[in-house]
Amino acid sequence: MNVELKIWRYDGSTGERALKQYAVDVSDEATLLDTLDAVKDKVDGTLAYRKSCRMMICGSCGMRVNGGAVLACKTRILDLVSDGRVPVISAMGNLPVVKDLVVDMDPFWQKMQAIQPYLEPRLDAPVEGENIVPQERMNAIHKESLCINCGCCVSECNSMESDPDFLGPAALAKGFRFVGDARDGATIERLERYSEEHGIWDCTRCYFCNERCPKGVDPRDAIAKLGAEAMKVGIDRDMGAKHAKWFVTSAKTTGWLRETELVPKTQGVVKAIKEIKFAMSLLPKGKVPPPFPPHVAADVNESRALYDLVKTQGRDGAAGIVQGEKALLHLSEDVGIPGGPTHPYDDPRSFVKPYLPEDEPEPEQTPAGAN
Ligand code: SF4
Ligand code: SF4
Ligand code: FES
Repeated sequence: MNVELKIWRYDGSTGERALKQYAVDVSDEATLLDTLDAVKDKVDGTLAYRKSCRMMICGSCGMRVNGGAVLACKTRILDLVSDGRVPVISAMGNLPVVKDLVVDMDPFWQKMQAIQPYLEPRLDAPVEGENIVPQERMNAIHKESLCINCGCCVSECNSMESDPDFLGPAALAKGFRFVGDARDGATIERLERYSEEHGIWDCTRCYFCNERCPKGVDPRDAIAKLGAEAMKVGIDRDMGAKHAKWFVTSAKTTGWLRETELVPKTQGVVKAIKEIKFAMSLLPKGKVPPPFPPHVAADVNESRALYDLVKTQGRDGAAGIVQGEKALLHLSEDVGIPGGPTHPYDDPRSFVKPYLPEDEPEPEQTPAGAN
């Protein structure tokens, strides 16, 4: 098969950039990485890109195709050219380009280093011999442990584009890998640190990192879990945390978001006073409903019941981040096998399954005489 592709070439020594088009013969099964190898071998030996394992585990071959980050060795070239268009290959975003498709990963590793990517052993509960952690505790960090440090999520991160100091999706996902680890003894210190400026609350929730991660780590979910864990232990001084708290309070008490009170509740009274002029300009447009008397939604009891339900299920903190449960699909390798579990929640290693009041599980019976 003859394929054409355009590649953004960059010369770090001169700063020159040029879009070059190449044509090369490859097999139908070839990946983008195979195709780049063919270009380099047969057409232009000066083309620079990174590779190592060729099988999606080393994280070396991250690059952009038509503006979105991919692993070149996980991407079939046939899928890129089958619509008749010529794919455009470029270096990953949010990292300085060194040459052609090679980026400087130093900023990536600096963020990774900043979150202390190693276990801090629990000194309060010394363990004799092997420290065996129950499988269900390890399931909590299964997804985050899959990260191969490729940088595809960082490449697409909106927050990092506007704030290069933002810790970013890869480092924060790694952070949750340790916060959620039963053997780690630095949970509070980590949550304090990750809650600082440029940390978890600076994520704009664009979800591009989840979309682009080639390993199913879902970094945005990990960030949500960090936020939930931080709030669970009372680390909520950041405006983002206060914002989230007010959403819950507001929904629980009146069944809808009382935006008029959002500014004083999250940014403080002084800031709210400064914003009065702006608020007055919104008033004629009906954007500032009067705070008193507060409007109470007709079905507010449904909202309150939902709040109580989540509380009774013990889903505070990371366990309440519903998006994360997609991970269970990765764990349920037996799904579909005759006699095996039919749903991730049927797996005994699963998190607690959320339930509605009518499906409330029977309480476990204590055998007579047991205490
Ligand atoms: S969801 Fe947050 S961390 Fe992920 S890409 Fe968007 S801004 Fe970055
Ligand atoms: S979270 Fe995913 S995209 Fe980000 S570095 Fe890890 S494997 Fe790559
Ligand atoms: S070459 Fe290792 S992940 Fe692609």
